Amino acid sequence: MLLNKICDVRDAVREWKQKEFKVGIVPTMGALHEGHLSLIKKAKETCDKVVVSVFVNPIQFGPAEDYDKYPRTLEKDYELCSKEGVDVVFAPNPEEMYGEGGRLSNDTLTYVCPPFFYVNKLCGKSRVGHFDGVCTVVLKLFNIVQPDFGFFGQKDAQQVIIIKKIVKDLNFPIEIIQCPIVRENSGLALSSRNKYLSENGKQDALALSLILNNIKSCYKKGITDIVALKETAYAFLNEKHELEYLEFVDKNTLEDKLKADDDTLVLIACRVEGVRLIDNTYIGV
Ligand code: PAF
Repeated sequence: MLLNKICDVRDAVREWKQKEFKVGIVPTMGALHEGHLSLIKKAKETCDKVVVSVFVNPIQFGPAEDYDKYPRTLEKDYELCSKEGVDVVFAPNPEEMYGEGGRLSNDTLTYVCPPFFYVNKLCGKSRVGHFDGVCTVVLKLFNIVQPDFGFFGQKDAQQVIIIKKIVKDLNFPIEIIQCPIVRENSGLALSSRNKYLSENGKQDALALSLILNNIKSCYKKGITDIVALKETAYAFLNEKHELEYLEFVDKNTLEDKLKADDDTLVLIACRVEGVRLIDNTYIGV
């Protein structure tokens, strides 16, 4: 069922809750790929009823980012969701979510702002306000759908850690389930933004997963010095790559690591053909 109105979603969920069904939500911005489908499959396994939201959230994009050109493929997304047995696809327009104008500023909207420590690093450093926009829309979706479970991909590892933090801090009775990164056979992590890459760009984009795999094997051979591990990345980078960050943090708290250990999450962000790509790995696994 495709629904655009908050009140219709609430009605559907009310009926489910009366029957004590467990409800799951998979929040997405559409342009669904195998990565999203893996979240949907996990949600179907875990819950009685599954809602997939498809909403390109204007307030998580900076003014110079790709909000206007972000791929919008609702018809195809709906078809894919129907094949997976999704119960409701919630695809509101910006006005439904944010009122008239659909793109309100910090002056006029109540925002959910996670602690500075969590948002002022990694992706949040270059995408100022991004996680405020993400957390605001995710909590709005949680309030609308009242799910028991929320499903998110490890690809956006910082996002999942922040969402777990706000759910805990604000006592939302929702279990956040993180699902593994889905990759092409080449190793490239699936992303809706891969659509912007040429074939050559896709080849160049392999540097991200190659760097992470190489760091992991160096760690397994006993190298724990982070400067030394970071240096191994340069063998995979050339003038086609604009490295934004390569960081080693605690996999639960995002605190910077002084030495790599089994709790280390390594994250990378790099532009290829102007497309901002991210990837990450747990080196202890
Ligand atoms: O990960 C995404 O696609 C988005 O940040 C999310 C969680 C759907 C919020 O708009």
